[in-house]
Amino acid sequence: MALYAIGDFHLSFMFHKPMEVFGEEWKDHVSRLRQNWLARVGKEDTVVITGDHSWGRNLRECEPDLAFIEKLPGRKILLRGNHDLFWDAKKTFQLNQQFAGRLEFLQDNFFAYEDYALVGTKGYCDEGRDEPKQVQKLLKRESARLRTSFELAKAADYKKFIMFLHYPPTSIKEQKSVFTRLAEEYGAEKVIYSHCHGKQRYGDSIRGFFHGIEYKLVSSDYLAFCPERILEHTLLG
Ligand SMILES: [Fe+2]
Repeated sequence: MALYAIGDFHLSFMFHKPMEVFGEEWKDHVSRLRQNWLARVGKEDTVVITGDHSWGRNLRECEPDLAFIEKLPGRKILLRGNHDLFWDAKKTFQLNQQFAGRLEFLQDNFFAYEDYALVGTKGYCDEGRDEPKQVQKLLKRESARLRTSFELAKAADYKKFIMFLHYPPTSIKEQKSVFTRLAEEYGAEKVIYSHCHGKQRYGDSIRGFFHGIEYKLVSSDYLAFCPERILEHTLLG
């Protein structure tokens, strides 16, 4: 009954898309990921997969990728990444209905893990591609989604939170952001994120403890495609 996290599978079963063009570490990443998952994760465990599941441009193109994830042992909770074009932000409720009992989709909602609420959203960090006005708009939208997730969990009387983002919680070398402030405001114990790939990017944001909160990067290449344990089984019984 442990909680794990890992992100950025970048699957593409429908179309051949070799990932080793992004670096040697991506060679055979799907079979390595599967082996590591099977060795670590049991059917009683929960895994939050922090976005960028598939290269597919719509749900039909993502079907075999989502089916691969579905077949892995454990309860799977998916977060939305910047590549997840199949996931219309306004239709998370429909995705949760369509995949009920198979996969769960975390956005504008929360999921329970023992006495913790798992909250989250895609997030946003400024990578220098967007105009300042657009940066502000995206930060506002994503922080509002995160607040909704926290508020729903609070209204359901949860007092312990693990917060998930796809993007790193801060822009490169920034010390704090609207996301770190929300984590502090609601008292999240940990902030888990991915999106950063390659040695040059792993240090882009906070890792370790900051203002009493533990920040963890769980990009699949950073973890050598091995799901990271976030919490042990804590409840008795
Ligand atoms: Fe990403």
